[in-house]
Amino acid sequence: MHINRVSRNKGTVIFVLAIACFAASATARAAQATDSHVKQTNSSAASERNWWKNAVIYEVYPRSFQDTNGDGIGDLKGITQHLEYLQKLGVDALWLTPVYPSPNADFGYDIADYRDISPEYGSLDDFNELVAEAKKRNIRVVMDMVMNHTSDESSWFVQSKSSRTDPYRDWYMWHDGKGQTADSQGQPPNNWGVFGRSSWEWDPNTRQYYYHHFSVHQPDLNWYNPAIKQEFKDIVGYWLKLGVAGFRFDAIETLFEDKNLKDEPIALDKDGKPVLGPQGQPRLERTEEEDLPKVHAVMQEMRAHMDTFNANAFPGTRVLIGEIFSRSSDELSQWYGTPKTPEFELPMEMRVAFVNKLDVSEFRERLIEAETKLDNNVPLLVFDNHDQPRMDVRYGDGVHDVAIQRVLSTILFTSGGASLMYYGDEIGMKTTPPTRKEDVKDRMTGLAGWPRFKGRDGERTPMQWNDSQNAGFTTGAPWLPVPPTASTVNVKAEEGKPDSLLEWYRALIHLKKTTPALERGTNTMLDSKNAQVLSWIRDAPGAPAVLVSLNFTADTQTVSLAGAEIGAKQKLQTLLKSPGGSDPSGPDHIELAPFGVYVGQLR
Ligand code: GLC
Ligand code: CA
Repeated sequence: MHINRVSRNKGTVIFVLAIACFAASATARAAQATDSHVKQTNSSAASERNWWKNAVIYEVYPRSFQDTNGDGIGDLKGITQHLEYLQKLGVDALWLTPVYPSPNADFGYDIADYRDISPEYGSLDDFNELVAEAKKRNIRVVMDMVMNHTSDESSWFVQSKSSRTDPYRDWYMWHDGKGQTADSQGQPPNNWGVFGRSSWEWDPNTRQYYYHHFSVHQPDLNWYNPAIKQEFKDIVGYWLKLGVAGFRFDAIETLFEDKNLKDEPIALDKDGKPVLGPQGQPRLERTEEEDLPKVHAVMQEMRAHMDTFNANAFPGTRVLIGEIFSRSSDELSQWYGTPKTPEFELPMEMRVAFVNKLDVSEFRERLIEAETKLDNNVPLLVFDNHDQPRMDVRYGDGVHDVAIQRVLSTILFTSGGASLMYYGDEIGMKTTPPTRKEDVKDRMTGLAGWPRFKGRDGERTPMQWNDSQNAGFTTGAPWLPVPPTASTVNVKAEEGKPDSLLEWYRALIHLKKTTPALERGTNTMLDSKNAQVLSWIRDAPGAPAVLVSLNFTADTQTVSLAGAEIGAKQKLQTLLKSPGGSDPSGPDHIELAPFGVYVGQLR
């Protein structure tokens, strides 16, 4: 629970959610980037530039994907080995969580060297090979970039910590304590912290405090120092030249803190009473440490900077994905910037997927917002990632989990925009947290929260390729145990089985890529008072409309969707339906099995 993200006061924060569940119960861009040596027609160049608008992006947790050298830790060669699998699934881009050298206090989110590959994961040669092989399959590689903080073992911090006069001193946030004297460290400079633990750490050697938004091993960089921005522009360029398709900017909302170190106000509920944290201490707002407006200018500059690089691997726009936790669509829309001053192409839309209960009207409302309140920008929906329990825990009922996941994945891939999925979702991997405290690997969050919150190991277990020992992940001892469910939930068992989740994902992604209305349509909700079934049509000029109907209950449901929104189009042709579902002859009578899905084309 020592991740501050956990304590954020924003109502719908995702990362909080893991904790809330467990502990207390997150362009038209200039076209110059086109490589001169690639002769293309205008239209294919345009589609290259817009590749991300209808993209399927697959998050790989490299440590857990495929080990190739028997050390029990996944590696880059392992990802390269499975490119064909990913191509067959239909993914356009891979987002790799950090693969840079790191002492792993937070498994790569504490970076020690931003221009290299951790030997655990391979070498720069392996990386180049991955990018090149991926390109052959029309798959792009997106890197994670952590700019808020570094590892405390980064040479920058080691130097910064070495003396008050070191040239790197001002790269981090060093301050005197309150009431500090020659023989006392006094109190931390202000009240910033979580659950009663200060975010300031005393350094006895140079006798000052440094600030760390996340763990003590992740000191925050001082973004008021212009050298930091310069350094990251250089780092971003370094990877772009190696052919990456863009970046997922980590924890971007925390880049800047109030320069005057103003205390955080105590969070108050609607009756004006202090909101209490899990241990009974007052919760603090995060107005002085997060979402400071200054960050937007930096993002605009980064965005413009990215466009100055010619892509070696792909012509066209490199993409910026943002880890954003927003309370509202209005808040989210700010992260796109404006057409004149663009920021992120794809700030994560985490509100739809984190309703976290099968509540039809809540989903309906948030889908409408994602479509209408983002100033016509492209939403990037995301259901699962490496920071919170997978869908099974957040939505499953233990009986219909696969059927429920069919419902959710249909929302992910047919509601429009770009879709971000997490490795193993496609086979229905189950969250499998450690059962003993001594087995916790995510020490940063898992130890402090034990036993109510068991950390993030449960959603980071090895990919389940087959039913052999260790699920085909490694020939050695896996760094995290392979879940017992791997004997039945695995790629080999599901491949080619028409009713499997894997084949469902493949079919959905294929539909997303090949159906014009899904690609460029707009949604109109149908039967909007229905609290059991969520239905909409997705319509695009000159293309047949697609009708989607999702049963959110464990009972059979029948809906009649004929009406003004559908008009004269009365012929329904099935595109995809849950196993055992029937083919309705028209929109006026659609029968849905428990948690059944129906997707059809209207003519
Ligand atoms: C982001 C990452 C998370 C990490 C944190 C600190 O939230 O997704 O895994 O712990 O940033 O870098
Ligand atoms: Ca910061």
